[in-house]
Amino acid sequence: MLSAVSAPSLFDAVPDGVHDLVRLRVPIHAARVALLAHAVAPLLGVNACEAFIAGYVHDIGKLGVPIAVLEAPRPLTAAERRVMQDHPVIGATLLAQVWPECPAAVQLAVRSHHERVTGTGYPFGACELSPLTALVAAADVWDALRSPRAYRAALSVADAGIEFEAEALPNQVKAAVRRIVAEQGW
Ligand SMILES: [Fe+2]
Ligand SMILES: [Fe+2]
Repeated sequence: MLSAVSAPSLFDAVPDGVHDLVRLRVPIHAARVALLAHAVAPLLGVNACEAFIAGYVHDIGKLGVPIAVLEAPRPLTAAERRVMQDHPVIGATLLAQVWPECPAAVQLAVRSHHERVTGTGYPFGACELSPLTALVAAADVWDALRSPRAYRAALSVADAGIEFEAEALPNQVKAAVRRIVAEQGW
């Protein structure tokens, strides 16, 4: 387990080679999910340092997705969607190679952050989410809704809230995220 430390030290906890890989795809989203997950973690009894790191590296597997697919300003084709849905497994595999000492809980969260409690997520359709996975998944969704995409503007807090509540993630986790984003103005 990693200990709780300040935000600059949290970035220092990640090896340089991993930073380099995160920078190649969605670095701003990565940093925002890291900071949000870190802020919410104490409300859920989750290790805050692991929450930060898991949030930071959760989409590292998008290195395996062409930028033309990642930034497509239209709905993805079925083939493109399959490529996109490989990113959690690519990410966990990549992370194990470039950072073998990465906490196992973080690797699991990377592999599972698009799973949902209803089994409707991907890549495996698993229903069981670890506490860290559920936290990263919820922080990921909130940031995605509140950020502009190639195909839509950022959602307002009210509209994001409606979509966020519809996500098949544990209610306790969603409530904790909603509390922090309201308090801190995310
Ligand atoms: Fe993702
Ligand atoms: Fe993400």
